[in-house]
Amino acid sequence: MNNADRITAPSADGVWENLHLAPGLASADVAVAEGVPASLVVQGGVLRWVGPSAALPAAYAPLARHDGGGLLATPGLVDCHTHLVYGGQRAGEFAMRLAGASYEEVARAGGGIVSSVRATRAASEDELYAAALPRLQTLLAEGVCAIEIKSGYGLALEHERKQLRVARRLGERLGVTVRTTFLGAHALPPEYAGKPQGSQDYIDLVCNQMLPALAAEGLVDAVDVFCERIAFSLGETEQVFQAAQRLGIPVKLHAEQLSDMGGSRLAARYGAMSCDHIEHLSQDGIEAMQAAGTVAVLLPGAYYTLRDTQLPPIAQLRAAGVPMAVSTDHNPGTSPALSLLLMANMACTLFRLTVPEALAGITTHAARALGLADTHGLIAAGRPANFVLWQLREAAELAYWFGHNPARTIVRQGRIVQ
Ligand code: NIG
Ligand code: FE
Repeated sequence: MNNADRITAPSADGVWENLHLAPGLASADVAVAEGVPASLVVQGGVLRWVGPSAALPAAYAPLARHDGGGLLATPGLVDCHTHLVYGGQRAGEFAMRLAGASYEEVARAGGGIVSSVRATRAASEDELYAAALPRLQTLLAEGVCAIEIKSGYGLALEHERKQLRVARRLGERLGVTVRTTFLGAHALPPEYAGKPQGSQDYIDLVCNQMLPALAAEGLVDAVDVFCERIAFSLGETEQVFQAAQRLGIPVKLHAEQLSDMGGSRLAARYGAMSCDHIEHLSQDGIEAMQAAGTVAVLLPGAYYTLRDTQLPPIAQLRAAGVPMAVSTDHNPGTSPALSLLLMANMACTLFRLTVPEALAGITTHAARALGLADTHGLIAAGRPANFVLWQLREAAELAYWFGHNPARTIVRQGRIVQ
């Protein structure tokens, strides 16, 4: 079934039986021993009961039955960091980097984020929607049931609005949970570049005009900044965080991707939901994140595309007990990736996550990074029915295969969409 037809997709209400629950990704009402067939009860689009098929409460016995065929069941996947809505693409820049130019060199030469800004500004809202739709459908076909979509390629009120409106429309049209993030402070817009005070003037615009206007329109679920040498300083980042705090909007940060700017410590002080990239994260940044409950979002697609060699401090994050999420960081420059399962594979292979860590990274911890810990990323009673049945024997296969989509059945927002 085409994801766009979700409105007409059949209801998932009833008893889903003969399932194999992936370990660690379900909270059952009655404990399910390994190898024992499990059932899920869906009523009114909400999960009502999770447990061994043999222990199904009698009250649910009359409900319609869906045979799970012994398939592996997980919660719907959560992609907690994407820049999915943009105009154009940047294959030319990919070629430049292959010829030896660094990401910073491309950006300083007028390419990079700013080239996507030009293409995004030139596109209408409908054109942006049409471009983003197949990208989102590709992610959804692999079991994504909640996704974050950032702005940050408009860098002017009307164009940031256009991006965020498209993100909202996509969520409504496809019946998927979309969390929007305002990333007005992603790069200095070309019209501010080279001006004395240009960066501060733009940050003032972001804080005093763009963010309040977009928040008032209900378009902003979170606020993000690219805190980096080629983007915004620590002081500028804090100004944006203060503006978000005044409006009661949670923050997150593109932090320590190319250098250690101390962004994670700052973000933790503002109770950030997540710090993302963090290849150059220091030990005190880790401790600050741990104390604040901030999720570490790992983005192996960007690490791979940029041929980075600085690994994020995985062992230290693990030792400190910082929850780690894994995301596509889908964007046209550093991570043109449309497979969250491939990112789980790469998180294991490149970053040395264990398989259970990678699976928590694309489910429970990703949900937490979006403030969705109570509704997404875990199969449990009381949550909206978002789950996936996979043509796989064991959960480890989710992170093992790549270039292959093993999703057989997808239930999203209580409907059987695939
Ligand atoms: O997450 N790091 C900054 N932002 C994006 C890249 C955006 C771009 O190059 O277009 C990222 O990697
Ligand atoms: Fe990003």
